[in-house]
Amino acid sequence: MALPVVLDVDTGVDDACALLLAAQHPALDLRAVTCVGGNAPLEVVVTNTLTVLDVVGRQDVPVAAGAALPLLEDPVDARHVHGRDGMGDLDWPRSTREPDPRHAVELLRDVLLAAAVTGDPADRVTLVPLAPLTNVALLLRTYPQVAAGLREVVFMGGAAAEGNATASAEFNVFHDPEAAAIVLDACADLGIAVTMYGLDVFYEPRVSRASVQPLLDAAAGDGADLAARLIAFQCDRFGADSATIGDAGAVCAVIEPAGVTRATLPVRVELAGTWSRGRTIVDRRDWSGGLTHDPHGRARSEIDVCLEVDARRYATLWFDTVTGGLG
Ligand code: RIB
Ligand code: CA
Repeated sequence: MALPVVLDVDTGVDDACALLLAAQHPALDLRAVTCVGGNAPLEVVVTNTLTVLDVVGRQDVPVAAGAALPLLEDPVDARHVHGRDGMGDLDWPRSTREPDPRHAVELLRDVLLAAAVTGDPADRVTLVPLAPLTNVALLLRTYPQVAAGLREVVFMGGAAAEGNATASAEFNVFHDPEAAAIVLDACADLGIAVTMYGLDVFYEPRVSRASVQPLLDAAAGDGADLAARLIAFQCDRFGADSATIGDAGAVCAVIEPAGVTRATLPVRVELAGTWSRGRTIVDRRDWSGGLTHDPHGRARSEIDVCLEVDARRYATLWFDTVTGGLG
């Protein structure tokens, strides 16, 4: 049986790569997609998300708009990375569909509570946040009962090592640090398993421009063409011969968990640091001897942190799925 999943996105070039994978891979049952302001303003994220699902014929997947702004932090966007339209300035025809009328938190609530009805763990949903965690924080604090319909949360965000938005913080967590802290706290409270697919692995699964060139030449206007153009945009933007599949790696970690090496570690989010606000503080110390000297004690949130990735495996998984092996 295909694994039920829901993505929370700020589409975004690499969110689009993740949507192309999640919408087409046979091992996944994409139940819904929720949108949050992040890489681009919320309304742009919603249109980009609808557009990607249109391209691969997945108009059946409900898409809902959620939080436009972080809980407390001033919003910033990443259009210097993702282009003015948030999706690579590809001039791709935009969807004219309307999103689901529910707020993202309501759509998430409805999907997760429906998944809990049978009581069968196989029906539980894997939630895959690929964006600032504002929607997920609001969901878990407003409707904690949705935990009964959740298998686990596999989120792209954070880093055990250096950041990207700042030297210390990764963009999704930096964009809404309070939301990230609330999600870790709520998942600890509710006993929800969490996997963090952070910057320590995020940039490694890469696809070369040469491998997508035949698809660029064909310009078929389909999902394979869109995937190729998303890769080419990043190569051109960064003057590189390859591009990361980014958020799509977190979806790969759902499809093939054995492709990452993980450790269960205490994690906190820094909320007060001048230069470190939004940092995920991943505690890799050996606690077996007791660290009683540490006044902070052990963080109550212990999650699976992805520390290594089989980059070729995930790049191939993504490429073969989104190109139908046409590359
Ligand atoms: O730091 C990487 C994250 O920030 C990705 O989710 C990317 O889409 C951007 O939102
Ligand atoms: Ca994203």
